[in-house]
Amino acid sequence: DLVSKGNHRHYMLKEIYEQPIVVAQTLRSYLQRMEEQVTLPIPDFDLSAIKRVTIVACGTSFYAGMVAKYWFEQFARVPVDLDVASEFRYRAPVMEEGGLMIVISQSGETADTLAALRHARSEGQKIAAVVNVPTSSMAREADLLLPTHAGPEIGVASTKAFTCQLAVLAALAANLAKAKGRLSEAEEKALVKHLAEAPAALNGALAYDEAIQAMAHVVAAARDVLYLGRGTDYPLALEGALKLKEISYIHAEGYAAGEMKHGPIALIDDAVPVIVIAPSGPLFEKTVSNMQEVQARGGKVILISDYDGIEAAGEGTVATITMPKVHPLIAPLVYAVPVQLLAYHVAVAKGTDVDQPRNLAKSVTVE
Ligand code: G6P
Repeated sequence: DLVSKGNHRHYMLKEIYEQPIVVAQTLRSYLQRMEEQVTLPIPDFDLSAIKRVTIVACGTSFYAGMVAKYWFEQFARVPVDLDVASEFRYRAPVMEEGGLMIVISQSGETADTLAALRHARSEGQKIAAVVNVPTSSMAREADLLLPTHAGPEIGVASTKAFTCQLAVLAALAANLAKAKGRLSEAEEKALVKHLAEAPAALNGALAYDEAIQAMAHVVAAARDVLYLGRGTDYPLALEGALKLKEISYIHAEGYAAGEMKHGPIALIDDAVPVIVIAPSGPLFEKTVSNMQEVQARGGKVILISDYDGIEAAGEGTVATITMPKVHPLIAPLVYAVPVQLLAYHVAVAKGTDVDQPRNLAKSVTVE
């Protein structure tokens, strides 16, 4: 039963909890587990000839695109241009021959994104669409349809569509890398293995739900909240801030952890919770030193990391959220869960209409 709330109080919570299943469902179309390969629907153009990628989307889908930019550049070494759809069309973007535009949209109907798709087509770009509604306008107009299998998403704030978009985009990045001769068989096998671990890791992340609920009051009492992250955790910081704004109406900003010293640090005092998203790994130490700058100014840090990261970060946080230790490729999917749950529980604590937040629409069909 996909469109009832089941045992959950809100659609949003139900959809957060569906993520292990719908991500597995989505990955099933893109991973050949037996052959240890990543595959896509066959495009009617040559992927290996793609010289440049332009990613365009809105809202949460845009942040999925921002994560994907890191992946396309890292794995396929293809330059990526990224923009929100409402800006893209009006800035005379340069789209040379041999370019691929990727639109990302849950609904497949967002007016700005659809207009960007049509503009790119008129400029001779190939179009790939990562959409959740296979009968949507974007799905119909694309050269390459890459469906997410999230099922109907009812909550206005997007959750499961986001993690399914990430799953598809990771598979696309791997395919592009393969087409470009930049992915060895062994590397491909390893990628398949890591991606296939995502559903279990998402379950592991959900296990922290009650603990997140217990700390929600710290954030619910705040007027302003800051989210910090580096690398692919930077888009997650932006997504965390967006989720919180959307459903709890608390002012929140996402920032690249290293950029904090160039402005937002002026806002830090003991009334500002700072959510730091930092799995242990190569970027960890730098982020922790940014975190310490916050602590030194009395900021209330909530650290989201794995056990090793939380150990290494030491004392001085007001709360920690422990995630399973996962490969960096799937970390953005896994860390999306605590970020969603925190926004959810804060909104519930504030008594807002979680599934139908004021002034927002599920799908925005005007430009
Ligand atoms: C609206 C929704 C967001 C969504 C955005 C993009 O603003 O409230 O949750 O991320 O549209 O929608 P799309 O369907 O294109 O992903």
